[in-house]
Amino acid sequence: MIVDSLLSNAKAYLNREIVDCNLAIENGKIFKIGKEAHMPQADETTNLRNLLVLPGLIDAHVHLRDEGKAYKEDFYTGTAAAAAGGVTTVLDMPNNAPVTMSAETLRNRMKIAEKKALVDIGFYSEFPASTDEIASIVAEGAMAFKLFMACQIGGLNIDDDSALENAFSKVSELNVPVVVHAEDRALLATAEEKLKKRRHHDAAAFLEAHSENVELKAIERLLKLGAKTKARLHICHVTTSTGLAAVAEAKKAGRAVTCEVTPNHLLLSSEDFKRYGSLFAIMPPLRSSNHIEALWRGVTDGWVDIIGSDHAPHTLKEKTASSIWEVKVGVPGLETTLPLMLTMVHKNRLGLATMVDLLSEKPARLFNLTDRGRIDKGKRADLVVLDFNRKFKVDAAKFHSKAKYSPYNGWELQGKPVKTFVNGLLTMDEGEILAKAGSGEILRRNHA
Ligand code: DOR
Ligand code: ZN
Ligand code: ZN
Repeated sequence: MIVDSLLSNAKAYLNREIVDCNLAIENGKIFKIGKEAHMPQADETTNLRNLLVLPGLIDAHVHLRDEGKAYKEDFYTGTAAAAAGGVTTVLDMPNNAPVTMSAETLRNRMKIAEKKALVDIGFYSEFPASTDEIASIVAEGAMAFKLFMACQIGGLNIDDDSALENAFSKVSELNVPVVVHAEDRALLATAEEKLKKRRHHDAAAFLEAHSENVELKAIERLLKLGAKTKARLHICHVTTSTGLAAVAEAKKAGRAVTCEVTPNHLLLSSEDFKRYGSLFAIMPPLRSSNHIEALWRGVTDGWVDIIGSDHAPHTLKEKTASSIWEVKVGVPGLETTLPLMLTMVHKNRLGLATMVDLLSEKPARLFNLTDRGRIDKGKRADLVVLDFNRKFKVDAAKFHSKAKYSPYNGWELQGKPVKTFVNGLLTMDEGEILAKAGSGEILRRNHA
């Protein structure tokens, strides 16, 4: 038999070990892993010259925009950024124009994405106004429902506990998770109003409004609703020690709850935000060092399940309004997540195995992406090849994302993705996109 391609002289991360091997790829899947003498012939061979190969990243928190917000990012530029960053699967957030919250908006989004995607994309839906619509959204293939608690975005009234309870019960029946941005709308709105009246519009005011308590209150409310309904909850971007402790307690009690942190909340602080200003405005905001340390402990002790980038591109103009209340919150992240985390591995802040768990294995498990997340026979050939020791400076001007700025611009990092294979296809090589638009696939939730 002659297989499609062969990756020779790889140092591949297999089953928590780094193994010298060759990888044969057939039909987008890993066909065989073995020593050179035992490998089948191939149409094409790439000599990886002892570079490290990890499973491609699965980034469960990405805002790809497109449609009415294509001026910020579109499916092509967003997935090009993913491929450049070693990310082979992304899950797309629903705060779009129009908001993804019906079978029709979801179907339409999939149709547009299908022609532009360079990596695989799964989609979240916001909750619709009527729980009767939930089943049709699930049938269309939504990966999970997103609940944005900081202000009203979806159809479901976020202030109404009984509405949330009904919706959670419904998704629990259908065995679909709910992913949540946990900040309490009412607390946030009251604080913001007060600060605006006093004409406070700097980073400190933003931090005061988005207090630790705003996150904790939302998490506590959610955990109560989760306990009542048995819904599977996933808390996005946990940023506080108290929020994480509440999640850890719920986990200890055996509840179906998981959580994510972002590289931003691990590596940047509220002091950075105050110093550098609006470009560093994200939501929930950057925190002080005691919270950062708690998040790191959560990462190393296993309370944190996954790392997601929260890639949230905006135009530079939107990022630089004079009042913090006018600034669009969010920063791009797809092209920096992996090099940042590899740099932390070099600094012994993080073990390589923990990193792969957080970036690939656990997101696959959480979202039932059973065909990926590990390098193994029969799994998809979604791979990132690293120059593990290479040092380089982040140059945001060269990003594939439309958002060509970064809080990490100019940082010297160590560890660079040099090739990304998506479904066996060499999609990125040394920063260059080689695949055609539409080579990525649209994912629908696997209910098996
Ligand atoms: O920083 C953020 N950006 N936080 C959010 O919750 C939304 C996101 C965005 O869509 O820009
Ligand atoms: Zn969010
Ligand atoms: Zn987000």
